[in-house]
Amino acid sequence: MNTRVLTGITTTGTPHLGNYAGAIRPAIQASTQAGVDAFFFLADYHALIKCDDPARVARSRLELAATWLASGLDPERVTFYRQSDIPEITELCWLLTCVTPKGLMNRAHAYKASVDQNAAKGVDPDDGVTMGLFSYPILMAADIVLFNAHKVPVGRDQIQHLEMARDIAQRFNHLYGSDFFVLPEVVIEEEVATLPGLDGRKMSKSYNNTIPLFEGGASALRSAVMRIVTDSRQPGEPKDAEGSHLYTLYRAFATPAESARFRAELEGGMGWGDAKTALYDRLEGILAPMRERYDALMARPERIEEILQAGAQKARAMAAPALLVLREAVGLRNLGGSQPAAKTAQPARKAGKGARFVSFRDADGSFRFRLLAADGEELLTSQAYADPKQAGAAMKRLPADGLLQEADQGYAAHLDGAVVAGSPAGADAADVAGMLARAREALAELAQQ
Ligand code: TRP
Repeated sequence: MNTRVLTGITTTGTPHLGNYAGAIRPAIQASTQAGVDAFFFLADYHALIKCDDPARVARSRLELAATWLASGLDPERVTFYRQSDIPEITELCWLLTCVTPKGLMNRAHAYKASVDQNAAKGVDPDDGVTMGLFSYPILMAADIVLFNAHKVPVGRDQIQHLEMARDIAQRFNHLYGSDFFVLPEVVIEEEVATLPGLDGRKMSKSYNNTIPLFEGGASALRSAVMRIVTDSRQPGEPKDAEGSHLYTLYRAFATPAESARFRAELEGGMGWGDAKTALYDRLEGILAPMRERYDALMARPERIEEILQAGAQKARAMAAPALLVLREAVGLRNLGGSQPAAKTAQPARKAGKGARFVSFRDADGSFRFRLLAADGEELLTSQAYADPKQAGAAMKRLPADGLLQEADQGYAAHLDGAVVAGSPAGADAADVAGMLARAREALAELAQQ
């Protein structure tokens, strides 16, 4: 089994050069390794906890999606989606909330920091603390364990959240008596560059010392680079390369040989002005082609939307069957008697006894297939295909890649965003819900075969 690597990106700010070198570049690099299944998502529900400006949240989702795609994320390879497109995350969040001790949340750093600040100000300890902030780690745990991520690369400030995710997952496993969730491991990338900002402190929006990644184009990049603080040594005087932020920045975007040459030039007396121009040229050489892709993407938000929708579909194909198992585990069961197969129990595969597909030909000669439950109940009927191969291909893909969604008086099966099959009309909402659960269960069962 491949290693599942998952990380979330909170959609508040506009990405800068430090985000690129510290998070985006290493994550994309990791996603191209053999044996890795990468899950990257825009944590837009988490953004709502920190930000109540709708325009900023909306803008940041777009910019971040465009940035990751322009930086080389391959959506065919990586499951790339928005948290808010996966209702199973919020559903799982509730199941986890119900097993999470309040005392555990009381210990969360972010919450405690707010309480401490309030104490210092002499106001109520919970002043300005929302339940979103308080429960932040539970939502994050749901993000992670829903996909059974093995490894979660994050910054140091997130280590405690990962510990809490493990703790919560373990409690659920223990309480409901099975290994429903993999316990995720935190990955702190020691190698990854933490870039200094214009003033030499860590590059961060809160210090207002950032170098923009794409926004503002080449001229904004140049003017930021020209504002990097240096010492007052004149051209001709040897510089302390090792101690200069300029060199640290250069090194993060150059090979060891190129960095050594730059360093020798600084130590040989290159002026700061020339050094800044050299740094700018190097950055621009790397960023210009990416910026071109970024601008092209930003000009076509509907294309980004499509990519994210396709990503959500991939993610939900995994999340929906997982939720069925979890609902069953906690007792939210189908009252009609037909129970989803428990994750631990291997599905019965007696000949002809499980859920199955049957293919048939219509009177007009076109090809269709049906999904039947073990007891023969019709759960889906496909559209008419002129080409039997296409019908066969859709049928094959449906269990793993299909997405069932409620539709008028029933539900429909989607593949790659298009409807390929529909349900019989239900008598009422409860009837539809029952059928839909049985259809999901049937597809989940077939997906395991
Ligand atoms: N809390 C993370 C941050 O601020 C973002 C995040 C949300 C996340 N859900 C996640 C990171 C799941 C890793 C896994 O950086």
